[in-house]
Amino acid sequence: MQGDAYLKSIFPDSDLEYSIENTDVLSEKGHMLDVKYKNRPSDKLKEVFSQRRNPQGSIFNESGVWRFRELLNFCQIDTENLEECSKYLVSLDGAEGRQSKPYHMSKAAEFIGISNDNLWLQPEGYNPSGSFKDNGMTTAVTHAKMVGATKIVCASTGNTSASAGMFAANEGINCDVYIPAGQIAPGKLSQAYQFGAQIVEVDGNFDDALKQSLDDAKNHNGYTVNSVNPFRIEGQKTIPFRALEYLEWEVPDWIVYPGGALGNTSSCGKALMELYEWGWIKKIPRIAVINSEGASTLSDLYNGKFEGEELRWNKGKPNAELITRYYDHLDNQGIRPKTKATAIQIGRPANIFKALRALEFTNGVSTTVSDSEMLDGMSVVGLNGFDCEMASGASVVGIKKLINEGIIKKDDVVVGILTGRQKDAMLPVDYHQNPQNRFAIPPKN
Ligand code: F0G
Repeated sequence: MQGDAYLKSIFPDSDLEYSIENTDVLSEKGHMLDVKYKNRPSDKLKEVFSQRRNPQGSIFNESGVWRFRELLNFCQIDTENLEECSKYLVSLDGAEGRQSKPYHMSKAAEFIGISNDNLWLQPEGYNPSGSFKDNGMTTAVTHAKMVGATKIVCASTGNTSASAGMFAANEGINCDVYIPAGQIAPGKLSQAYQFGAQIVEVDGNFDDALKQSLDDAKNHNGYTVNSVNPFRIEGQKTIPFRALEYLEWEVPDWIVYPGGALGNTSSCGKALMELYEWGWIKKIPRIAVINSEGASTLSDLYNGKFEGEELRWNKGKPNAELITRYYDHLDNQGIRPKTKATAIQIGRPANIFKALRALEFTNGVSTTVSDSEMLDGMSVVGLNGFDCEMASGASVVGIKKLINEGIIKKDDVVVGILTGRQKDAMLPVDYHQNPQNRFAIPPKN
């Protein structure tokens, strides 16, 4: 396995490659990077992964991320040697990804209009810091440790900073988080304080905070843990791995995510590209990305709502100028991303190229939903006894919308990812106090 992993520009006509110890998140030409593996893992590992669900005293088997360690072995270690695992792999005592798997939720299925057997919803909020971010933070901080970083840095709409803060505190390293002041849920902000992160308040939105945090990381020796970091993407591949494993590698027709910075879309796409290339799956599920109406960059560009051109990966030659003109248009018109689902209030999704590649590979789609729809989606998940936040509600109502439009067929098998748990305590209180809301159960007095 030695020398198996390296970094490569995502653009097929570029031969820019870097060693695995590289810490620049972009190539010298500003391209996003992929972690690549020369090795081709055998699908006999499916059995190994299954056996590890009985962890036999190893936290790396307990972990829902490291259980799949052969498929993200950028540390190039002997994955069966637990001493080596302990030396290299960062873990919250095996808790990351451990509780995440797909569930049936009958009330959500009824609301969506799909048979309960065909709908799976996977709550990633049951991660230690309360969102899917822990899947990728585990791997990003593993790489940070590998290169000897002493400070991790991120921008965040709240969940990334909570996760980064938790991992940094566990590892005894510093953590700076850039947040759009006044625009993140109180439960997320309090986590960053609680875990001892240094908060930097940015007078602007997430896109402004990301720019500042990237500058800070570059100029002050910080290690960026946003999803522009290719090692974050490696850990997030385990979200679809767990779904597929639970379905006994019977591939669903659709995997549905809320879309923000598009790290999830990118990681799901990469996971599926690799599994297909390695012959582990014969069919490719379609990815659906659900934007908020108030922060709809991907959906607008993908569906040709700007200048009439449908933006595509185009086999590695996307029309980057179209994206630039779209951003200029937003700036000139003073249009700022705006949604109550602050987790996905993002106008300039950093992973847009990787997401376009994922959509091309999977024949994917993108659409938008409104704030009130997302609140209904969040609330119906609650009625099934599961917890999720407003942005995650987008997966539920996105599936509903795509079924109503005939894009998802009624007998398709659909996995929707519920990305985080409720950290905005007043949202459900306000929702249920208003009897006009579809699922409201107002208080009695
Ligand atoms: N859902 C939740 C709960 C999130 O926190 C985020 C992103 C997303 C969806 C969007 O995921 O970026 O992979 O498309 N939150 C980031 C943060 C930006 O800073 O916590 P994506």
